[in-house]
Amino acid sequence: MPRLSEQYSTLSHLECPKCGAHHDAAVVQGTCDCGSPLLARYDLDAARGMSPAGRAPTLWRYHEVLPVSAEAAVVSLGEGMTPLLPLPVHGKRIGVPDLWMKDEGLVPTGSFKARGAAVGVSRAAELGVRGIAMPTNGNAGAAWALYAARAGIRSLIAMPVDAPVITRAECVAAGAELYLVDGLISHAGALIRAALAKRPDYQDVSTLKEPYRIEGKKTMGYEIVEQLGMRAPDVLLYPTGGGVGLIGIHKALEEMRELGWLTPETRLVAVQAEGCRPIVDAWEAGEQESTAPAAPATIAFGINVPKPLGDFLILRALAETSGTAVAVSDAELLAAQRELAADEGAFVCPEGAACFAALIRLRESGWLRGDERVVVLNTGTGVKYPDTVRVDVPTIPADGALPDPV
Ligand SMILES: Cc1ncc(COP(=O)(O)O)c(C=O)c1O
Ligand SMILES: [Zn+2]
Repeated sequence: MPRLSEQYSTLSHLECPKCGAHHDAAVVQGTCDCGSPLLARYDLDAARGMSPAGRAPTLWRYHEVLPVSAEAAVVSLGEGMTPLLPLPVHGKRIGVPDLWMKDEGLVPTGSFKARGAAVGVSRAAELGVRGIAMPTNGNAGAAWALYAARAGIRSLIAMPVDAPVITRAECVAAGAELYLVDGLISHAGALIRAALAKRPDYQDVSTLKEPYRIEGKKTMGYEIVEQLGMRAPDVLLYPTGGGVGLIGIHKALEEMRELGWLTPETRLVAVQAEGCRPIVDAWEAGEQESTAPAAPATIAFGINVPKPLGDFLILRALAETSGTAVAVSDAELLAAQRELAADEGAFVCPEGAACFAALIRLRESGWLRGDERVVVLNTGTGVKYPDTVRVDVPTIPADGALPDPV
């Protein structure tokens, strides 16, 4: 037996955050018998000596608190350690001078979904899974299909026909079995559940139906703290669909406190779109679970999730950190997307742009003070959404001339 401090992973078991049941982490697991997602637990005493400084700039620098048992089992495309960019010009303009952006546009596949896929696929393949199946709003399916290809396992993906077109191409290029659904992610989920009954060698890796996607996404929290010199920000804004990243970052902050890295609390903010705001509604009503809206719709497609499975965990994270939930309109988020690109040269995805729009609201309401350090999660690159910016410019004939300067 290696000494504890030499273990690549200190994973000990899986725990149900609803009923408290423990489950064996050495075999493939889905949700708890009570229906709740499961959370990975580690021997944090053994992980206490973890010292990521000096390790390669990937999310695997935190391998002691990730579930993969050996370096040889890691399936990687080089994900993690994305830039934490200061945004001084935009920050000053909106009254938040200490504003930072964690830019997840710079990971393989162009969205933060690569983190969950890298860790989830690595662990699934390590446990002998031969194929993965999932409904998706696009980016997650693209990431899991590509990481599955890297791991040499099959993938079955269903996504709404309205999902970003490039994510289809990523799935097809990866050799996935892909279906487009004339409906929402919830309809895609029903199709996948039915198909899984006839594909026993596939694992259901739908959002929060396997425990390790959260583990990949929580590394955003570890990285932000490391990049800020082992300090947590005062406030963190996250575009919330299924809420995996928010739940993951909350979990990371708790783990880092147990590891003795941190003391102060970070207020977590769940940002949604007016057209799909189940978490905001539940938060404002003081409920512990969400209710699906009748006709969810937003241009920020990744956060068009009518009834997240982990809604109670999202709401718990907001309550435990004195956070809040905010919804913005599509017009506000599109305006914020352009403003940020013009101010800072950062072309963010519409979901990330929603957080920048929310920031303006929070500052105006006084919830956010002007001296606070704020990190916004930009979950993907704007380049994956070529149609969000309306391009209204003249076309000049080949032998023409440009107009005189105004
Ligand atoms: C770009 C982008 N941002 C945010 C989200 C929402 O992620 P989460 O499920 O972690 O709330 C998604 C999900 O599809 C996404 O693609
Ligand atoms: Zn349970």
